[in-house]
Amino acid sequence: MLIEWQEAWLLGEDRIDAEHLALVATINALYAAAEHAEGREGIFALLLELVERTKRHFAYEEQLMESHEYPGIAPHRQQHRKLLSVVDDVMQNVSGLDSEVLLRSVGTFDEWFIAHVETDDLALGRFLVARG
Ligand SMILES: [Fe+2]
Ligand SMILES: [Fe+2]
Repeated sequence: MLIEWQEAWLLGEDRIDAEHLALVATINALYAAAEHAEGREGIFALLLELVERTKRHFAYEEQLMESHEYPGIAPHRQQHRKLLSVVDDVMQNVSGLDSEVLLRSVGTFDEWFIAHVETDDLALGRFLVARG
């Protein structure tokens, strides 16, 4: 399912917000590519982009949590690891995946990602805003 961007997901930390927006756009591009049965190369390139964006994004949030001594860092980092393992699984199997399986896998990532933004990331955002 295409993700419709929600204002409620804005944390008020510009780089995190921009990265979330870019991640949603990448997930939506993957859906569009899989739905139109685009060639494997295009889909693979988008998956690679998703993995790289996700890794860079998590690294940034974790660095921010460290530098602000955020008390919730351990469970937040754990959630990042889980999400990365979902996306890594898709990458491992991409060559044998038909587009329906691929769409389901991206759907799993997308649900977890949104749930993560709505809980852990918003909590981090409130902490950062309160800190000024
Ligand atoms: Fe996060
Ligand atoms: Fe995030």
